[in-house]
Amino acid sequence: MGCRDFFAVCLLLVGAVHATGKLGYPAPLLGETSPGSVWPQPHTVTASPQLYTIDIQAFRFEYLQTSQRCHVADEAFKRYQLLISRSGIKAKFHDKYSTSVISVLPVMITGPCEDMPSLDMKEGYILDVGSNPLLNASSVWGVLRGLETFSQMIWEDPSGQAVANKTHIIDEPRYAHRGLLLDTARHFLPVNVILENLEAMAYNKFNVFHWHIVDAQSFPYVSTVYPNLHLKGSYSSLNLVYTPEMIAQVIEFARLRGIRVVPEFDTPGHTYSWGLGQPGLLTTCYTGGKPNGDVGPINPTVNSSYTFIKNLFTEVRGQFKDKYIHLGGDEVPFDCWKSNPNITTWMAAHNMSGDYAKLEQVYIQQVIDITGAIGFSYIVWQEVIDNGVKAKDDTVVEVWINNHPEVEMAKVTALGYRTILAAPWYLEELTVGEDWKKYYSYEPTNFNGTAQQKALVIGGEACLWGEYVDATNISPRLWPRASAVAERLWSPETVNDVDAATPRLHQHRCRMVQRGIPAEPLHPSYCVFDWMNRK
Ligand SMILES: *[C@@H]1O[C@H](CO)[C@@H](O)[C@H](O)[C@H]1NC(C)=O
Ligand SMILES: *[C@@H]1O[C@H](CO)[C@@H](O)[C@H](O)[C@H]1NC(C)=O
Ligand SMILES: *[C@@H]1O[C@H](CO)[C@@H](O)[C@H](O)[C@H]1NC(C)=O
Ligand SMILES: *[C@@H]1O[C@H](CO)[C@@H](O)[C@H](O)[C@H]1NC(C)=O
Ligand SMILES: *[C@@H]1O[C@H](CO)[C@@H](O)[C@H](O)[C@H]1NC(C)=O
Ligand SMILES: *[C@@H]1O[C@H](CO)[C@@H](O)[C@H](O)[C@H]1NC(C)=O
Repeated sequence: MGCRDFFAVCLLLVGAVHATGKLGYPAPLLGETSPGSVWPQPHTVTASPQLYTIDIQAFRFEYLQTSQRCHVADEAFKRYQLLISRSGIKAKFHDKYSTSVISVLPVMITGPCEDMPSLDMKEGYILDVGSNPLLNASSVWGVLRGLETFSQMIWEDPSGQAVANKTHIIDEPRYAHRGLLLDTARHFLPVNVILENLEAMAYNKFNVFHWHIVDAQSFPYVSTVYPNLHLKGSYSSLNLVYTPEMIAQVIEFARLRGIRVVPEFDTPGHTYSWGLGQPGLLTTCYTGGKPNGDVGPINPTVNSSYTFIKNLFTEVRGQFKDKYIHLGGDEVPFDCWKSNPNITTWMAAHNMSGDYAKLEQVYIQQVIDITGAIGFSYIVWQEVIDNGVKAKDDTVVEVWINNHPEVEMAKVTALGYRTILAAPWYLEELTVGEDWKKYYSYEPTNFNGTAQQKALVIGGEACLWGEYVDATNISPRLWPRASAVAERLWSPETVNDVDAATPRLHQHRCRMVQRGIPAEPLHPSYCVFDWMNRK
């Protein structure tokens, strides 16, 4: 008797208790009830009960004669052929479907080949599964999303055959920026763990890896211009650092999956580890007229701070390929600045005595100008705007404070800035039970604003801060809870019914486990596959 039977029996017993109505719960869900369903839900799906056999062992993708041939798609064909052949279905052939076997999916790319994913990339596609199967997209990015969808449509019918329903899908994302923040400063994450989660991101159609790479606790980024930063500021300069080669590997792996890598170098706060390798960068704190041994945020009153930022960010610009960098700017404490007599003198000389928000504004303004001059566009946390900084028009503001985010969304969009929402989706905050429903139900445009303001919302991010997360627990903590955010950001606003989503999400969780991602369970249930023969 396999675990499947065992759990089914257990659940029937549990179900019997529930059926008495004493506990008032609905009957528990048994196993996968939504075979071949896609997560996140595509824009338009027209499905029928007619089935086609998928020849998963010999399956191939082939360009149509008139199609562009692109390297990113070539690589994706190989990945998805392997994934489909390992879908865990035994794939015995039956006569039943012998007239309608699909062993090739023709692919058409109508536009030019692109190499780097961007905020403006086109991710739409049309997918037909039927007697004339076709995946048709204007760019490789649409092809990537369509291949993922196709791979999810294959299921094992009761006779053990790999099949897909006859289906016509027209799909495109609701939002252009669908991000996931991982924090490699509170705990170091090995590169293979980052890659595993990039793979899971592709399974969920996320398209931005927001890499919170350094913070107060550690500086694992290896700078060749300022090597003391990682030599003195990382947890271990021998093996808990990201070399240029490792960073290039992460960017390349992400690129092939249509995922942008946006690094965050958060200043002027959150920089304790920076100061260990760059003396004079941070503010000296004073007590009773004397330095007290503590340091505060970056000193905004000396030119050396800006020279340093310019040199470091110029190196970062050469390495990270995305147009955007995240400049942080959150949670800047003022106490240390207030205690420092040189800063007091400088502020008096610049006619801003006592106005520390103004001082922060002076700092951020210069960093923004430097960053723009070396060719980056930038994302900032909401405090930058709350403190009155005038940012460039193409700045993206990330709303994170979960105290009436709808008020902040209204404010930031009224100022004309493009906005991404993170506040409702801080996944390190744990509650017992099905908290994905809360993430799923948050509607990003639910704020008082004009249609124009709402059009400035370009997406959102699920964030997993790293204080209590490392390689041991990152994947089950993220998946499938982040998947709820993925569907909110990809699917139409009207796809918002938690009950309808539940069996699909359960199915998707099982699919991730089958593919090797240790995604945690949603509720009492089981997955229909052989645990011993997972990828
Ligand atoms: C797929 O086909 C099966 C078998 O004919 C059918 O039961 C199921 O409803 C179909 N799914 C969809 C979404 O139409
Ligand atoms: C692919 O889609 C484009 C745009 O919708 C359309 O013009 C073209 O005819 C389609 N190609 C095929 C082979 O269906
Ligand atoms: C700092 O930079 C400003 C603006 O470039 C310049 O006016 C000033 O003289 C510099 N101060 C020092 C101490 O170098
Ligand atoms: C702070 O001011 C004192 C007194 O003017 C000066 O000796 C010292 O070098 C200054 N420190 C910095 C970091 O500018
Ligand atoms: C100093 O700041 C005050 C208040 O912001 C302003 O009224 C005044 O004109 C400023 N003086 C100079 C010299 O900039
Ligand atoms: C919109 O404004 C109204 C009136 O001030 C208020 O009652 C409502 O809660 C606001 N809605 C949101 C989503 O902020």
